[in-house]
This record gives sequence, structure tokens and C-alpha cells, in this order.
Amino acid sequence: MRDFTAARLRDVQESATIAVSDKAKALKAQGKDVLDLSGGDPHFKTPEHIRREAFEAMERGDTRYPPSRGVPRLLEAIQRKLAQENGLEYARDELVVTPGGKLGIYASLMATVEPGDQVLLLSPAWVSYEPGIRLAGGSPVYVPLEPEEYRITPEALRSVDAPRAKVLIFNSPNNPTGRVATREELEAVSEFARERDLLVISDELYEKLLYDGHEHTSLATLPGMWERTITVNGFSKAYAMTGWRLGYVAAPREIIAQLFKVHQQSVTAAATFTQLAGARALEGPQDEVDDMLREYDSNRRLVVQALNDMPGVYCPSPEGAFYAFPRIESASDSVRFAQELLEDALVAVTPGVAFGPTGEGHVRISFATSADVLERAFERMAKVLNDRVPSLPR
Ligand SMILES: Cc1ncc(COP(=O)(O)O)c(C=O)c1O
Repeated sequence: MRDFTAARLRDVQESATIAVSDKAKALKAQGKDVLDLSGGDPHFKTPEHIRREAFEAMERGDTRYPPSRGVPRLLEAIQRKLAQENGLEYARDELVVTPGGKLGIYASLMATVEPGDQVLLLSPAWVSYEPGIRLAGGSPVYVPLEPEEYRITPEALRSVDAPRAKVLIFNSPNNPTGRVATREELEAVSEFARERDLLVISDELYEKLLYDGHEHTSLATLPGMWERTITVNGFSKAYAMTGWRLGYVAAPREIIAQLFKVHQQSVTAAATFTQLAGARALEGPQDEVDDMLREYDSNRRLVVQALNDMPGVYCPSPEGAFYAFPRIESASDSVRFAQELLEDALVAVTPGVAFGPTGEGHVRISFATSADVLERAFERMAKVLNDRVPSLPR
């Protein structure tokens, strides 16, 4: 019998983050007391007024196919949000509401990348970019950023030889490093994109999760960038709506028209009542977003302190998002380290190598969980590290 599977999938790995959290869930199902710091899934319940909106929509019978681009009320709310908060003007037909930001990124790649095209990723980069590029037939090229600082400089951008580069994926606030790009870094990216005539996919999923006065700027606001940027955003992280599957994409008409075909011919639309809840999220009070942010910030301090107190661990302070990305001396093989930590201490973290070559030697720790879980996890982790490297100075 012949091989029925598609060749383009053979180089695509299953998501490393999902693999770890699936294993953690399986251990939990066996009754093990697993502490899961591997997922990007806030422990908060979606705010009540948002849940109610979906519930009422379902009760009313708003359960049929919505317009493929998105329900008008949500499109209007997104348009207003982008204009007021991000300084970005888009017409309705320059937006598409997707079931999750991830589909927005996938549809962006499918709409723009052709076989043989290279797509630049600033390493470390979120785990799902590389498989998405491969699914679209492109070749990922990592631009390595100097570990720990992860500064984006013109020199770093020019350091890779990528003559067929067409697209660059940019993500700030960053998963996994927690870095928030400075004005200088944004300028470096935009100058490089213009110089090399690149399209930029700007993943802004974590824009509301900022600490210590850091500010978010949408890349498309920089001179000459609106016309070459696809802005991707969503509701998962800011509003604790991961399970609702809701995101959106904004791009110039010629690009969005192609992206819209991918969306329409694959998923049709995001769920009607989910979209109405998303509209409420944008229109309604934002104080719960602030409350969640305060808790993440307090967790962040706890995480940075606890990790830096462990032997052989160096953890810079995240500026945004809800991840710490410490370098761990005994995690030079980060997959093995993460596996052992899960088996020996029942603590799930994500191996750094999953985020590209400069991620090796690190692990990603999500602090979108309760302080209690974090404290117990670090107690166990410190014990493992103390047993491994008793001689290292503290
Ligand atoms: C950097 C980044 N982009 C996009 C996404 C996709 O989020 P969603 O599909 O839930 O909107 C995630 C989720 O973890 C992420 O971390």
C-alpha cells in the first residue's frame, strides 16, 4: 500500500508545549499531583459580563452561521479598539475575525508564503510559527538574538543569509522571553523590513500584559509599515478566553482579501456567540483585565526571585506577557531536563529548545497560575536542582 500521508507534514512536529501539557494532564488523570507551569492558559475564569453575553446570545438563539468576516458588532468594536488604543485605522473589509489568533497567523502564512519562500523568525520564537511556515510550504530561518537580553539590533537582523526571505514574524510582548520591544528595536525591524521589502506578521496577543511601565506600540504605526504589516491579535490572553477561540487579523485590503479566502474556505467563521462575547469584552469595563494584570505582576516578582535563588539558574525579569525564560545550567539538554522535572518532581515546564536554537539551555515557565501553585512548584524544583548541583555557589 502507498503512503497516504502528505509529504509537507513530515517535517512538522507536534506542538512541544501542547505535548508537555498533555503529558502533565495524563499524569494528573492518574491521580498524580502535577503542578503545570507549561501552558499559556490563564487560571482565571473569563469575566462574568463576557460569559453572560455568550449565554444570553445562545438563549436568544444566536447559534447560526455568522457572516464569515465576523459579526458587525464585533468588527465595529475591533475597528474602534485598533483606532483608539493602537492608533491604527482599518476599514471593515480590512479585518477578519478568526477562531483564535493562531488561525490568524496560519491564515496569514497560507495567504502569503509560497513554496521556497523563507520566513524569518527572531529566535527564541513561539513554537507554532515554524510548523505554520512549513505547512504553508515555506522555510523558517531563525535570526538568533543574544541570549538573556534578546535585543533586536540591525546587526542581528542582517546576520542571516536569507536571499529568499519574504516574511518576518514579529512578536512583542514576547513569548517566551517576556521582552517588550523598545522604540529603537521597532525601528530596527521596520527599517530592515523596508530595506528587504518584507511583509511583517506582527503578533500582538500579549499587548495588554505589560509590567514596570513598559508600553506597547503596534509595528504597523511606524512610517512605511502599515502597508506591509499584518497585525494579529486575540482575546485569549487579555480576557482569559483561551477556550473560546477568538482572534482577529488586520491588514491592507489586497492581503486580507487572500487571507479571507483561507479563513472562509477552511473554518467559515468564529462561533457566533463567542464573537458577541468578544464584542462585550472590548466594549465593557476593563477593570478585570487590570486585576488579572496585578496578579500576574505579583506572580512575576515571586517567580523571578524564586528562580534566581536556585543554584545555577539565571532569570531576567519579564517585561510583558506571563512567561519567565530562565537559563538553567543543568538544562543544557532542555527536553531531558523538562522530562526529568516532570517525572521526578511532577512539575511541568516547556523545554527552551522548542522555541528555536537560542532557546536551548532554558525552560519556559508560565506564571498564569496561582501563587500557591508557583510556590509549591519552585519548592520541588529547588530540591531537584539542589540535589543535582550541590557544589554551585548560590
Ligand atoms: C505568541 C502567541 N501568539 C499567538 C497565540 C495564539 O493564541 P490564540 O490562538 O489562543 O488566540 C499564542 C498562544 O499561546 C501565543 O503565545
